[in-house]
Order: sequence, then C-alpha cells, then structure tokens
Amino acid sequence: MPSNNINMWWGSLLLLAAAVAVAAAEPPSTLAGPSRPVTVTPRENRGHAVDLPDTDPRVQRRATGWAPEQVAVALSAAPTSAWVSWITGEFQMGGTVKPLDPRTVGSVVRYGLAADSLVREATGDALVYSQLYPFEGLHNYTSGIIHHVRLQGLEPGTKYYYQCGDPAIPGAMSAVHAFRTMPAAGPRSYPGRIAVVGDLGLTYNTTSTVDHMTSNRPDLVVLVGDVSYANMYLTNGTGTDCYSCSFGKSTPIHETYQPRWDYWGRYMEPVTSSTPMMVVEGNHEIEEQIGNKTFAAYRSRFAFPSAESGSFSPFYYSFDAGGIHFIMLGAYADYGRSGEQYRWLEKDLAKVDRSVTPWLVAGWHAPWYTTYKAHYREVECMRVAMEELLYSHGLDIAFTGHVHAYERSNRVFNYTLDPCGAVYISVGDGGNREKMATTHADEPGHCPDPRPKPNAFIAGFCAFNFTSGPAAGRFCWDRQPDYSAYRESSFGHGILEVKNETHALWRWHRNQDLYGSAGDEIYIVREPERCLHKHNSTRPAHGP
Ligand SMILES: *[C@@H]1O[C@H](CO)[C@@H](O)[C@H](O)[C@H]1NC(C)=O
Ligand SMILES: *[C@@H]1O[C@H](CO)[C@@H](O)[C@H](O)[C@H]1NC(C)=O
Ligand SMILES: *[C@@H]1O[C@H](CO)[C@@H](O)[C@H](O)[C@H]1NC(C)=O
Ligand SMILES: *[C@@H]1O[C@H](CO)[C@@H](O)[C@H](O)[C@H]1NC(C)=O
Ligand SMILES: *[C@@H]1O[C@H](CO)[C@@H](O)[C@H](O)[C@H]1NC(C)=O
Ligand SMILES: *[C@@H]1O[C@H](CO)[C@@H](O)[C@H](O)[C@H]1NC(C)=O
Ligand SMILES: *[C@@H]1O[C@H](CO)[C@@H](O)[C@H](O)[C@H]1NC(C)=O
Ligand SMILES: *[C@@H]1O[C@H](CO)[C@@H](O)[C@H](O)[C@H]1NC(C)=O
Ligand SMILES: [Fe+2]
Ligand SMILES: [Fe+2]
Repeated sequence: MPSNNINMWWGSLLLLAAAVAVAAAEPPSTLAGPSRPVTVTPRENRGHAVDLPDTDPRVQRRATGWAPEQVAVALSAAPTSAWVSWITGEFQMGGTVKPLDPRTVGSVVRYGLAADSLVREATGDALVYSQLYPFEGLHNYTSGIIHHVRLQGLEPGTKYYYQCGDPAIPGAMSAVHAFRTMPAAGPRSYPGRIAVVGDLGLTYNTTSTVDHMTSNRPDLVVLVGDVSYANMYLTNGTGTDCYSCSFGKSTPIHETYQPRWDYWGRYMEPVTSSTPMMVVEGNHEIEEQIGNKTFAAYRSRFAFPSAESGSFSPFYYSFDAGGIHFIMLGAYADYGRSGEQYRWLEKDLAKVDRSVTPWLVAGWHAPWYTTYKAHYREVECMRVAMEELLYSHGLDIAFTGHVHAYERSNRVFNYTLDPCGAVYISVGDGGNREKMATTHADEPGHCPDPRPKPNAFIAGFCAFNFTSGPAAGRFCWDRQPDYSAYRESSFGHGILEVKNETHALWRWHRNQDLYGSAGDEIYIVREPERCLHKHNSTRPAHGP
C-alpha cells in the first residue's frame, strides 16, 4: 500500500502544480485594488508610420458605374435595428466641381436570414457633401452619393444577409454581405468580443492594427475618433507627418485631401461591411472649410443612432450592446453643464436600468487621465463638467484615444484612487502617421506649461495645479502617477469581453506581437452592491 500512497501524493502534487499554473495564467483583477504603476518601454524603433499611397490597390475604386462601395454597418440604439451605409458614384476633386444629385440613385437594402432569401426591403436617404476652399490655388472636393438606410424589426443576436444599392439600375446592387445584430439587452447577454481602436489613420501600421483586430474576430468595433487623417494633406494631395511643422504657416486655412476618406472607407470595407462599427469624432474630423463649416465628412459619411437615442447630434449618442449601455460623448461639442450634451447625458443616464444593462461604458476622443506629455490634461474642462455625473451613475469603463500610445488607469475619480471610480483606457495607438507619444509628463523637464493654449475647439482652461496628493502644488507628478496602471508606446488595439454582470476581460494586443497574445490584460470587475447606490442621487451615499 505505501506505493499507492506515494502515487496519490504525487498525484495531488501534480494537481496542485496544475492549479497553481492555471492561477498564474489568470489575468489580474481590479478587485485586488490599484496596482503599482507600470511603464513598458518597447525596444523596437518607433519610427514614423507611412501612409498607404493612392496607388495601393486597397484604396482604389473598384466599383464601376453606380455600384456601391465603402459599405458599412452601424448599430442603432437597440439591437432590433441597424444602419447600412455606402457610397455610389465618383467624387470630384479639382477646380470647378459640381455636386452630384443624390436623387440619381436609390437607397435600398434587401435583407433576410439567408443569402438566397433577401425577402425584406428597407429604403433610406442619400446625400452629398462638399469640402470647399475659397482660396487661390486650393482645390475643392465633392463626394460621391452617400446612402444611409435604417433596417428595423430585426431579431437580436441574429445573422442577416444583405445587398445594398439601387435595384432599378443595372449593376447597381452590391455583393451579398452579412452581419450579426447585437444580442438582446439583458444581464446575461453579451456580444463575444468588442474591439476598441483609436487614431487609426491609414498607414501600413494601421493595416497591421486592423489585421490583428480582425484575427480576434470582433462582434463590434468601437472607434474613438481620429479616423482618416485627411487633414495631414494639402488639397493638391501632398501629405506630411506634421502639418503644423510643414505647412502650418503657409496655408490660408488648414487644408484636407478628402479622397483620403474614400481610401479609408475602401480599405475598411471588408471589416465595416460585416462588423458593426461605431465612431465618435476626434479633432482630426473637425476639417474647417468655407463659411467656418466643420465636420462635414464625419457627419455625412457615418450613420449614428442620434435620433434613436434622443441626442439628435452626430457628436454624442448612446446604444445598447447586450447588457452594456454605451455612451459616446463629444469632446469637440459643448459639454458645459448648461449645454445640450450635458442635459441629454443626464436624461440618458436616468433611463439606464442596471438590472437590464449592468455595464455602463463610455467612449470619447481626448483622455481625462493621461500621463503622456502630448495632450496632457488638455480636456480638463470636459472632465470637470462631466466626471461627477458619470461617477454618480457608476460608470464602469471609459475608452479614449487622441494620445498616440496605450494607457490604462487604476479605478480613479477626480484624480483620487477610488474603488468605485471608472477604469480609463486610452487606445490612441491605432497607427496613424503622426508621431507616437513617447514622453511622459512626469519625466524631468517634460512637464508641459500649465498655461492655456489657444484652441477654438476646447473651451476654457481648467487644468490647475494639483491641490492634494503627491503632486500637490505642481502641474505634474515626479513619477508615474498612482492613477496610471500601465502605459506603453506601441501600436495596437484592445478587445473587451464582457463575461457576465460583474466580470469583463480587457486585453490589449500589440502589433509587434503574434496574433492572440496580449500585452496588457485585466479583469475589470464591477461591485454593484458596493458602488451602485451612488447612482441614486436622492439617497446619500453614506447616509442612515
Ligand atoms: C510600423 O510598421 C513598420 C513596417 O511597415 C514596422 O517596421 C514598424 O516597426 C512599425 N512601427 C511600430 C511602432 O509598430
Ligand atoms: C472652390 O469653391 C469656392 C466656393 O464656391 C470657390 O470660391 C472657389 O473658387 C472654388 N475653387 C476652385 C479652384 O474652383
Ligand atoms: C502642392 O503644394 C505644395 C505647396 O504649395 C507644393 O510644395 C507641392 O509641390 C504641391 N504638390 C503637387 C503635387 O502639386
Ligand atoms: C469664421 O470665423 C472667423 C473667426 O472666428 C470669423 O472672423 C468669421 O466672421 C467667421 N466667418 C463666417 C462666415 O462665419
Ligand atoms: C475634485 O477635487 C478638487 C480639488 O481637490 C475639488 O476642489 C473638487 O471639489 C473635487 N470635485 C468633486 C466632484 O469631488
Ligand atoms: C504650478 O506648477 C508648476 C510646476 O508644475 C509651477 O511651475 C507653477 O509655479 C505652479 N503654479 C502655481 C500657481 O502654483
Ligand atoms: C462571472 O465571470 C467570471 C469570469 O469568467 C467568473 O469567475 C464568475 O464566477 C462569474 N460570475 C457569475 C456570477 O457568473
Ligand atoms: C432611491 O432612493 C430613494 C430614497 O431612499 C428610494 O425611495 C428609491 O426607491 C431609490 N431608488 C432606487 C432605484 O434605488
Ligand atoms: Fe486626436
Ligand atoms: Fe490622433
């Protein structure tokens, strides 16, 4: 019998070893409290990213006649509805451009549950936009016809096949594409994987980000602004990696080369025609033109659930993805407490039923809790205006971009570590041609000047020196701030997998790593019983 005992002993030891190995492989969890700040410095060169040229086959027009191109799907506010968008006809660029008549081509989507049974039909609207520069020597642009059609009465969690175009014109219907609607709202109902990307642009590094993202087979893509970087070009098609360095003082207006938007739409079509993508504006979407018009490409090219979520604005809106209520906020729209966005946000938050959508996730462009020198505390006025409202409603996660690097925060509220604060994740590392952010504000000699910089699109100045904590009296910390959990200057994308009403797995994937391997991973764990009473503002948090 002793040998048997020894076998059992070895057996238990092996089991124990296996259990330890599994435990070690488990990602860390926010339940363990704030983690010690980590900075990872990649060894490879962070040389500049190079745009795909207009000769790249992936950006060229393959559609002929009135055939659709740049086909894209976006979610509506509820999973029973979705948007399909596409473009027909050719854009014009140059001297005298004459806008196409949007009534030339119909906007029809035929759809159904099988590729050979597209028995339902929806119709929508068409528009064109122009980007005009009334300045000597500058070229104008006018778009192809942009179509947006809303499908309604869909089943949640269901794959739909569709064709879009104009069935009355020969050759004007697209190939058959397919996408899946989000699962129904509910505490045990979640999309498998949500990809979160920012600041993509259209470089060879962008294609690496998108390839890595596609390999993770996302059910939804959230793009937190800075999309095509068409404003890195002059209207004659000459581009630069630093607009203000190259042309900043020589151009009468900040020019754009709008065909870059079409290139972006074409390059992205394999993703956007089959995976719903939700976009919110970044500063690169501002794109000023004649008559102080802004955001023309952004508001024309994408469909937003603005009416469906009651915002009636392309700059902020909300939608449900299973048991997640997403709120997309406008960092370049009025966010003051007396403004329309804030009032809409109050109403939207008040409507959220956390027993149906336990998760509250927000997305916008410019980060509140960044520690890089670039854009350090740039949108403090937005944070001061909106943070308390989101916190009191138990915001779980906030995704941002803008800073061209990756950073994840510990749970934080008002610059103070707080077990009920949100986790802030910034993924402005999509691969665009501007410089990657590599310098931290806490490095000696790199704390930016706290004085306001003139910027018509970021109202006011709110970034004063800290009044408490280790950086009291100063504008920057002298080491990686405690609120910063992990930061790294590599290109990549993130994947959010919500498992149930308390656990979500966040993974950040670097472009230089093999598909599937994660650079940063963490279980973001909600504690509703500890934190959610705060969302009932009529009941004091620590009252009787
Ligand atoms: C960008 O892509 C190039 C290859 O196209 C690669 O050599 C470089 O390392 C990439 N940069 C980063 C920061 O990933
Ligand atoms: C572009 O459009 C503006 C506004 O219509 C006009 O003033 C300008 O002359 C146009 N540019 C060219 C090159 O035609
Ligand atoms: C575009 O304009 C810039 C600035 O005037 C000039 O340097 C460049 O050569 C032009 N490029 C082309 C392709 O005409
Ligand atoms: C555009 O903005 C400038 C500067 O803010 C202002 O001087 C000008 O009057 C505006 N033009 C129009 C057409 O609104
Ligand atoms: C945030 O902290 C600042 C400085 O300590 C304080 O003045 C302010 O009242 C705090 N805001 C909230 C909403 O707690
Ligand atoms: C704010 O902090 C900076 C250093 O970070 C310092 O130079 C400046 O004097 C401080 N301003 C005030 C008003 O304390
Ligand atoms: C939620 O998911 C996590 C991770 O998969 C798991 O450990 C936990 O037991 C789940 N909780 C419930 C209530 O299902
Ligand atoms: C909020 O608090 C008030 C007062 O304590 C209570 O009457 C109400 O039922 C609470 N509502 C929720 C949703 O917990
Ligand atoms: Fe940006
Ligand atoms: Fe950017």
